[in-house]
Amino acid sequence: MSAPRILRLGSVKNVAQFAEHLRALQLQIPCDSAILPATESPLFLPLSRGGIKIGNRFAINPMEGWDGTADGAPTENTLRRWRRFGESGAKLIWGGEAVAVSHLGRANPHQLVLAEHTRSGLAQLRAALVAEHKLAAGSDAGLLIGLQLTHSGRYCKPNLHTRAEPKILYRHPILDRRLGLAADFPLLTDSEIEGIIEGFHRAGRTASELGFDFVDVKHCHGYLGHEFLGAHTREGKYGGSFENRTRFLREVVQGIRAGAPQLKIGVRVSAFDTVPFCPDPAQSANGTLGPGIPEPHADLIPYRWGFGVNASDPTQPDLAEPIQFLSLLESLNIVLVNLTAGSPYYNPHIQRPALYPPSDGYAPPEDPLVGVARQMDATRELKRRFPNLLFVGTAYSYLQDFLPHVAQAAVREGWVDSVGLGRMVLTYPEILLDAAHGCAVQHKRICRTFSDCTTAPRNGLPSGCYPLDSHYKGSPMAVQLSAIKTKRARPEIAE
Ligand SMILES: Cc1cc2nc3c(=O)[nH]c(=O)nc-3n(C[C@H](O)[C@H](O)[C@H](O)COP(=O)(O)O)c2cc1C
Ligand code: SF4
Repeated sequence: MSAPRILRLGSVKNVAQFAEHLRALQLQIPCDSAILPATESPLFLPLSRGGIKIGNRFAINPMEGWDGTADGAPTENTLRRWRRFGESGAKLIWGGEAVAVSHLGRANPHQLVLAEHTRSGLAQLRAALVAEHKLAAGSDAGLLIGLQLTHSGRYCKPNLHTRAEPKILYRHPILDRRLGLAADFPLLTDSEIEGIIEGFHRAGRTASELGFDFVDVKHCHGYLGHEFLGAHTREGKYGGSFENRTRFLREVVQGIRAGAPQLKIGVRVSAFDTVPFCPDPAQSANGTLGPGIPEPHADLIPYRWGFGVNASDPTQPDLAEPIQFLSLLESLNIVLVNLTAGSPYYNPHIQRPALYPPSDGYAPPEDPLVGVARQMDATRELKRRFPNLLFVGTAYSYLQDFLPHVAQAAVREGWVDSVGLGRMVLTYPEILLDAAHGCAVQHKRICRTFSDCTTAPRNGLPSGCYPLDSHYKGSPMAVQLSAIKTKRARPEIAE
């Protein structure tokens, strides 16, 4: 596969040219030609469903910073990020960031942990966000704040950034090899799983006591909840059948509800997936990453190691089980659903479309707009099938200057209930407020998907927008990052 020619969106002069570009790529992405003022914009309409009231139609997707203390409490940098979440004016804060339910379940040695000793720090994060939100939006009416609860499963690194301490549910023929796991690497036992589930129950109670409106029981991106959904080959009560693979969710929900009846529950789920990708070795040289290609999988058909994957051709999504999963959520009275896809570890082009890959990724195998369209389209289809669920969409940051136009159109046309913002928030939290209040969108603050916010933590540094956010730009951490960064792949760019 040769690297695709990709038009750099920073060079696209106006929305008409952008719409023309979408047509040339034959992509169905709705896009309004003008931004409406807040008083007329669908993005500023309130939303109400199943006892949940949210003041507008954009959300902050969870964005972890790898900047907590060694024992999992927030730092000044964490507080700053949450204040900026508040500055965005979004009335739905989906999770803030992944917070581990136990030390051993952390994805990195600086991830936040929900525990007795971190209670006051987490309460401070919430309070700081609310204070900034009031300044930006005038009041906190209709503000719904959740905490994302996680166990990192296969991607646990609780103690040292250089030492993986995976907790796996089943053997994965590709990912085990990538992680260097021996054939006899122990699987989590059912009783260890029960202990983890109790950790979620405790975390739910604490989140409720700290004033969070909901918790997200994270089921995405290759972490433990997501691994359960793909545990086709696991034996026993947590693997095999759909019922067994969703037992973790049901037991977590049951216990949280018993301990914190007021707390709402949401689920962020990778709605589809593919086989892991790697840089094409034939096109990788001198530290330059070749375009992503699927790992060899011809001998793994039918493919039984994922969720939302076509078993006959695992490079393609299959929404049959995700649809079953959403029916299950409905039957559990879970209305809040956040759709994402894939994993940042093994198929980042699916999960966070970017022009420039992170240091452990690969050059884009497709125009990143194709990745945006793929997530938007799946969300539209699932929204059509489940009109009563409240869907947050993902992967809008690559739209760059045209994010406001697409977000407005997507909500107006009913593709999604709330547009989730990820990377763009690290550089330009107020983008949708600026757009709807008649201020010109600030070109220089637009996320250009340089992926430094992923490359930094992959190399043991805190995440943040090193190229564009003055807080990180030129800092000692930025100097360290540029020294350790591997030579970045240069996708061929058509101007
Ligand atoms: C630095 C960074 C940290 C992230 N942390 C989380 C996280 O804690 N939990 C989560 O579910 N997703 C996390 N994500 C994924 C984002 O929520 C989002 O799905 C992804 O960035 C794609 O959306 P975007 O195009 O708006 O950036 C993270 C992404 C980045 C870049
Ligand atoms: S480092 Fe900044 S510009 Fe690059 S992807 Fe992250 S937020 Fe966007």
